[in-house]
Amino acid sequence: MPEHYRWHVPVLADQAVEALVWRNDGTYVDATVGDGGHAEKICERLAGGGRLLAIDRDPEALERAADRLNQYKDRVIFVRASFARLDELVENAKLGPISGMLFDLGVSSRQLDQPERGFSYRSEGPIDMRMGPDTETAAATIVNEWPEPELARLFRVFGEEPHAKSIARSIFQRRSRRPLATTSDLVEAIGRRGTHPEKTLSRVFQALRIAVNDELASLNRVLGLVPDLLERGGRLVVISYHSLEDRSVKAWMRMETQGCICPPTVPECRCGHVPRMRAITRRAVMPTAEEIAGNSRSRSARMRVAERL
Ligand SMILES: C[S@@+](CC[C@H](N)C(=O)[O-])C[C@H]1O[C@@H](n2cnc3c(N)ncnc32)[C@H](O)[C@@H]1O
Repeated sequence: MPEHYRWHVPVLADQAVEALVWRNDGTYVDATVGDGGHAEKICERLAGGGRLLAIDRDPEALERAADRLNQYKDRVIFVRASFARLDELVENAKLGPISGMLFDLGVSSRQLDQPERGFSYRSEGPIDMRMGPDTETAAATIVNEWPEPELARLFRVFGEEPHAKSIARSIFQRRSRRPLATTSDLVEAIGRRGTHPEKTLSRVFQALRIAVNDELASLNRVLGLVPDLLERGGRLVVISYHSLEDRSVKAWMRMETQGCICPPTVPECRCGHVPRMRAITRRAVMPTAEEIAGNSRSRSARMRVAERL
């Protein structure tokens, strides 16, 4: 079987679904259904009027998930869209308060393994990196058209890359001779840097992918919608794969689980802020050594869970 036909192996699957599904007749959202690994486990637990709204930006992912979840088709609604507009998606599907939402962020192994998607520095393909057709700008436009200082900022902020400035310079010099067309052109322009050149490549590709798909803005937007969409006792489960995502989730949880947020210098509370969520995980849940040994992609996973008060 060609490598890109492998299923994506769901990460922290039992822990995530255990934390998510607290009533089997509830309405759930898998906002990043991918190959449907988590969704299948959610569906196995549903009974009565239990339903699942399965969302992905990638039409191919939805097709595969629909295939995998065929035996549960009477209880699953598939939607191709970004989860950033989750309030509209829930309303359009005429679903009431949500019992639980799962976000398994980033790209799937299948997307990474498809050279023509351009997500991986390990294989030759166009510099694309779009997760779905709702995204207009491919990564090639960014590397070939953005001003050098903006490229440097992108690699520094979204890639946390220490060599950001010199990589931007080198891409700029390379593209003034000829535009970069393939991932190999990009890898060559980035060059070998520091003691772990692979890490640099991974960080630069990550930064581009985040920008192309507006990943952090989508996450922050949807987190703002979560408390209003969840029913009382409803669960939010987020699995993230890099520190920028995890930091956003952590900051949101801190904010939503505390009362007064007035500065300490104010003698009496003026903000009237009330907590709407309760943290179920005090610390991020990480995969076991055994899971990492079986699925290296799970290595960086961090899961956080919160409950609607
Ligand atoms: C890590 S994979 C999910 C894998 C899935 N849990 C499984 O078990 O197969 C992430 C998926 O989320 C999708 N995705 C990422 N950001 C999205 C967004 N803003 N809206 C909708 N789908 C998104 C990607 O296209 C990808 O298919």
